[in-house]
Amino acid sequence: MTKALEGVRILDFTHVQSGPTCTQLLAWFGADVIKVERPGVGDITRTQLQDVPDADSLYFTMLNSNKRSITLDTKNRTGMEVLEDLVRVCDVLVENFAPGALARMGLTWERIQALNPRMIVASVKGFGPGPYEECKVYENVAQCAGGAASTTGFRDGIPLVTGAQIGDSGTGLHLALGIVTALYQRTHTGRGQRVDCAMQDGVLNLCRVKLRDQQRLTHGPLKEYSQYGEGVPFGDAVPRAGNDSGGGQPGRIVKCKGWETDPNAYLYFITQAPVWEKICDVIGEPEWKTHPDFAKPAARLPRLTQIFERIEQWTMTKTKFEAMDILNQYDIPCGPILSMKELAEEPSLRATGTIVEVEHPVRGPYLTVGNPIKLSDSPTEVVRSPLLGEHTDEVLRRVLSYSDERILEVAGSGAIGSVQKIAAE
Ligand code: COA
Repeated sequence: MTKALEGVRILDFTHVQSGPTCTQLLAWFGADVIKVERPGVGDITRTQLQDVPDADSLYFTMLNSNKRSITLDTKNRTGMEVLEDLVRVCDVLVENFAPGALARMGLTWERIQALNPRMIVASVKGFGPGPYEECKVYENVAQCAGGAASTTGFRDGIPLVTGAQIGDSGTGLHLALGIVTALYQRTHTGRGQRVDCAMQDGVLNLCRVKLRDQQRLTHGPLKEYSQYGEGVPFGDAVPRAGNDSGGGQPGRIVKCKGWETDPNAYLYFITQAPVWEKICDVIGEPEWKTHPDFAKPAARLPRLTQIFERIEQWTMTKTKFEAMDILNQYDIPCGPILSMKELAEEPSLRATGTIVEVEHPVRGPYLTVGNPIKLSDSPTEVVRSPLLGEHTDEVLRRVLSYSDERILEVAGSGAIGSVQKIAAE
């Protein structure tokens, strides 16, 4: 079966997390992703948070599946010639270097256009044009600068970052969409274009509902926030809302059986208005269905703490899974707090390929998150990440059609480090 992006060749100049997330997705959809890495060093994540001595870290292996790796020193003259040859034969160049690094390397937009007018050049930067455009940016910086941190956490606590990598992986996702869109437009225009994603913009896009609330605030208090019911006045910026639900239906995290010893024995519970009567029956408060203090959503707002304490009395008699089974029968929206251990062991995620075990020649088997986007005509098989420079020889020979003499010349120049020949699996 062919893959959706078969025939698309990506010159992958990415490192760390944001760019690699994007190119990994494109590789899963069938693009030929050639990752260019510095000889002897490679993507810095290869050695970051290493858990197995001398093996590529999980940080690297989990973000670079299905790619080929070529080592190339682009600050070496011959290395730059090779890079320019790759620009000529690739469809997309993806990079997430610090601002200006690509141009300093000699690869300006004009130069790339001259080499290959069909090339799409996709970049992740921390910020778009403006006061911070020159800054180097990492995940948590983007979460803070994009509005996520100011709206995450509890009202009386400091701003919090979230474990979901919305700055890095979130921006990588945005970039991937920009690339396939530009590829589609190229089918009409025949031209490449630039695709720029700033991490601040990506995070802000994911925080869209909070900018919605910022504007609502000018017309009165945000009634679905717990602080309204608690009589705490609002300031002039959207506050942190703890675990309140963002959709206007009150929701909180409640304890379940075993919470005293299990840090994840909790359930997210939403008191959605259409199922309120069912909630009353389940928790054993049938009179709340008609009681004037509880029957209507507006009447419940000042009593949310009392309501959730009662719900919690019920959930504490059940495990999170038992509670989930019961509540689902009545379409009462809820979700268990699942630990990474539980997710890693979840059979249904293994069955769909969302969690996959991959064999690696140095580190042995490891788990990774497979492609979360399922295409019916383009299934994803997750292939282990490449060793540093594993495909240098193969790419020079088969992609660039270099002769033995040219390869010797390139190798002699020091541009590729030592060519590793590892038998393909
Ligand atoms: N051969 C030779 N030199 C190479 C090379 C290669 N194959 N690959 C990279 N380099 C050089 C670059 O030319 C650059 O050199 P220069 O500074 O002399 O121009 C240098 O390596 C590294 O680039 P840089 O991107 O500055 O790395 P860094 O480790 O200092 O910064 C980031 C890392 C992530 C902060 C920075 O790249 C950045 O802000 N990126 C954009 C935002 C982003 O993606 N952040 C999230 C990362 S998950």
